[in-house]
Amino acid sequence: MRSDEDGLQAVDELVRTYRHSCAWFLGPFYNMVRLFHPDYVKPLLLAPGQSLLLTNGTKWSRQRRLLTPAFHFDILKNYIYIFNKSTNIMHENWRRLLAEGKKDFNMFEYVSMMTLDSLLKCTFSYDSHCQECSGKSDEYISAIFELSDLAVKRQRYLPHHWDWVYHRSAEGRRFRRACEIVHSFTAAIVQDRRSKIDQQGPPESFTQTAKRGYRRTVDFIDVLLLSRDENGEGLSNEEIKAQADTFMFAGHDTTASAISWVLYNLAMHQEFQDRCRSEINDLLSGRDSEEITWDDLSSLTFTTMCIKESLRLHSPISAVTRYYSQDMSVPGERIIPAGSICLISIYGTHRNPDVWPNPEVYDPMRFDPDKSKQRSSYAFIPFSAGPRNCIGQSFAMAEIRVVVALTLRRFRVLPGSKPVKRFYMIVMRTEGGLPLMLEPLMPAQE
Ligand code: HEM
Repeated sequence: MRSDEDGLQAVDELVRTYRHSCAWFLGPFYNMVRLFHPDYVKPLLLAPGQSLLLTNGTKWSRQRRLLTPAFHFDILKNYIYIFNKSTNIMHENWRRLLAEGKKDFNMFEYVSMMTLDSLLKCTFSYDSHCQECSGKSDEYISAIFELSDLAVKRQRYLPHHWDWVYHRSAEGRRFRRACEIVHSFTAAIVQDRRSKIDQQGPPESFTQTAKRGYRRTVDFIDVLLLSRDENGEGLSNEEIKAQADTFMFAGHDTTASAISWVLYNLAMHQEFQDRCRSEINDLLSGRDSEEITWDDLSSLTFTTMCIKESLRLHSPISAVTRYYSQDMSVPGERIIPAGSICLISIYGTHRNPDVWPNPEVYDPMRFDPDKSKQRSSYAFIPFSAGPRNCIGQSFAMAEIRVVVALTLRRFRVLPGSKPVKRFYMIVMRTEGGLPLMLEPLMPAQE
């Protein structure tokens, strides 16, 4: 199956034909089951399965327990200020470019730099200024982008699936070099922070003032360094480094894809955009500052419905894969034999006509709380579900809401000059960018 527009339409056809799942046989030994119905997806996601990409069961569950405090609401609250700041920088850039006469804005380009900016501040308290200089001067930022690029290229070129071949190729060498840069950057921060905590004790408060002009919050590294399991054991430097690197890769492109597609869907549906804007303007009316706070997020009811509908229609991650070492039962007394690769299709489940009538239509009213109650909780799974779901889900939802709210408050978003063709490159993107037009709004238009 290809991951371009034609490939995605072929998946739509598959879902319309089979409705819950289908099996693929690749030669005599390798088989894969593709599942796209909530009732079939549920037993698989609830099983303590082993992800193909990540650490094994025992190691994973200990690490997951130690990571969980880093995503507690009390910690996430402190990041809202950072999300506001990073969005403001992006908007200042947009205003400058509009004044210079720019028309089409490739959303991915600006939004992914902005989500990277935020994530670096939340993970390491590192202010890279990447939005000011497009990250070009920063070795670490270039390495992050290069790694995502190389991962996509490798995925698409079959001979490079073999490590032996890949690591001897020019691209494989560039990959290793970029990994070294990313790993040594993280290792240096972790080491430095550990020795500060050893010497000075844990950071005093969540909102100390920092040198670089934004409030220094407790970041992910601090929380991970202080996290302890039931035996009082913490994470090693090596484990913290690996987790921080995972956050950077799991967190910035996914959130950027989500935000870009929300803006796209609202550009295509001005009536919903207007309704979001009045909700946001009502919320902020009479305030001195435009800062969105943690408590504001729960008031953005309709905007959140629009975000969820966008995550359904343009889910950043197309599927999660699982390998089960024992037979798995699914409805209809069917068994998926041990050793099969299961591809739990988020894309397919979100577009299953048995679950979502007219699945290709963007309709935020599907997420009206009353309607949501009538659906299986496995019908909407952009962050996967079960024990191995996305640990960054609340972080991502908070960031998306802040960025979308501030953007609609300040700009009207309009369709760009050319139609888009979807394309999964690890996350859902498009072939050749996602152009949108922006019209700055004056405060008087509130
Ligand atoms: C809209 C944004 C995001 C989407 C759609 C998303 C989606 C997902 C999905 C589908 C998985 C399951 C992968 C699997 O089971 O194979 C996952 C796992 C994960 N995500 Fe996210 N994610 C997002 C944002 C984030 C952010 C912001 C972070 C961190 C700051 C993050 C960190 C992680 C981690 C660490 C895992 C692995 C969890 C585990 O195995 O226990 N994600 N994400």
